[in-house]
Amino acid sequence: MGTALGALASVAAPVAAQPRRAMAMRRDFLWGVATAAHQVEGNNVNSDSWLLENLSHSLFTDPSGDACDHYHLYESDIAMVAKLGFNSYRFSIEWARIEPVPGRFSLAEIAHYGRMLDACKRHGLKTVVTLHHFTSPLWFARSGGFENPEAPEAFARYAAKVVEHLGDRIDWLCTINEADLGFGPIPRAMERAAAAIGSDRFAFFLTSIRPEAKAIVRACHVAARKAIAALRPGLPVGYTLAMSDFQDAPGTSGHAAEARAKRYAPFLELARDDAFIGVQTYTREQYGEKGKLAPPRDAPRTQMGYEYYPAALGNTVRYAAEVARVPVLVTENGIGTQDDAQRIAYIDGALAGLAAAIADGVDVRGYIHWSLFDNFEWMLGYRPKFGLVAVDRETQKRTPKPSALHLGKIARMNRIDRAT
Ligand code: BGC
Repeated sequence: MGTALGALASVAAPVAAQPRRAMAMRRDFLWGVATAAHQVEGNNVNSDSWLLENLSHSLFTDPSGDACDHYHLYESDIAMVAKLGFNSYRFSIEWARIEPVPGRFSLAEIAHYGRMLDACKRHGLKTVVTLHHFTSPLWFARSGGFENPEAPEAFARYAAKVVEHLGDRIDWLCTINEADLGFGPIPRAMERAAAAIGSDRFAFFLTSIRPEAKAIVRACHVAARKAIAALRPGLPVGYTLAMSDFQDAPGTSGHAAEARAKRYAPFLELARDDAFIGVQTYTREQYGEKGKLAPPRDAPRTQMGYEYYPAALGNTVRYAAEVARVPVLVTENGIGTQDDAQRIAYIDGALAGLAAAIADGVDVRGYIHWSLFDNFEWMLGYRPKFGLVAVDRETQKRTPKPSALHLGKIARMNRIDRAT
C-alpha cells in the first residue's frame, strides 16, 4: 500500500522560530483534513452516485471505481494524518453501506466505521463525522431522495442508528454536507438519467431541482438533531454550508447582500439552535443588477473554473457567525490545482483572512482542509487535484505534497502567520 511516511520525518523536527506577527489559536483549535466516503472509499455499489456513474450516457466523466481504496487503507491513512501534524480528521459515514435496504442496518458496516473512529482515537485525532456527504442509498434516491416529504423520518432513523453505536467516539457531528447547495444546470441531464433508471422520482442530492427540496433538507437536519440529542445530549451537532464570498460587482451596491441572504439566511437562522455552523468556502462570487457575474476576465482561475480568491474564507466566516450566532467550524477550504505552490499560497491567504476574523472576535473552532487526497471530484472525475496527498490509483501509493507538510507544520505550531 506504500504510504510515503519516510517523507514526513522532516515535519517531526521541533519548530525553531515563530514567524513574525503570528497569532496563537485557542488550545483546542481543530486542525484537520477532510474526506467524504464516496470520494475516497471505492466500490460504494449501493449508492445513487454509483448507479449514475455507470450508466451508458453518464453525467460523470469517470466512474469512482476503487477511488483511493480508503475503505481498506484507512488505518495507515489515519496514521499519516496524525504524523503530518493534524489533530483531527473529518470523514463521512456512508448511509448506503449502513442501510442498504430500508430499515435493515448492517452491523458489520457500522463496525467498520467504529474501527475508523478507534484508529483516530489511537492516533490522538478528534473525529468530525458527516452523516450525509452527497450520496444516499439507492432505495432512498428511488423514493425521491430529499424531494420526498418522508425523507426526514428516514434520515433521523439512520442518524439515530449511527449515534447509538458510534456516538461515544464522535467529537463533532455534521448531519448534512452543504445543505444549502443550489442545484446547477444539470437537471435536464438528470431527467434523462432518471428515465434510464426507470423512475421519475429518482433524486440525487447534487442534482435535485425541486425548490421544496431545500425545506425538506432542513427538516431532515432538525429531525436528526432531535434524534441525536435524545441519545447523546452533549454531542455537538451542526450542518455545513457551501458558502462563497458574495461581493458587489464594481460600481454596484446591495445586490450581493440580497442574493446572499436569499441563499443562506434560512439555513443560518436554523443553525441558531445548533452547536456550531460548518463553513465551506472555495471562492467569491460577484453580483450586479443582473445577478451573478462571470469572474473578471483577467482573474486567475482554479481547475474548477472559478476564481482563485483565498481571501473569501475570512469574509464567509464573519457573515456566518453574524447570522447564525454560534461558533464556526471551517469544515472545508481548499483549491483544485496541479500547482502545489499555488495551494500553499492559497492556504496562507485563506488562513490570514481567518486569523483577522478571529482577531476581530469571531468564534472559530477549527480549520479543516479539503482535501486529504486527490480524489473523486464528482461529475469532474479524477482530473481536479484538491489533495494535500497525491494518490497513485493503480498502486494506491500515497505521496504527501509540500502543501501537506506546510499545513501540518502550521497545525503543530497552532499559530497563523498574519503577515502572509
Ligand atoms: C464538497 C466536496 C467537493 C469539494 C470540491 C465541496 O463542495 O463538499 O465533496 O469535493 O467541494 O469541489
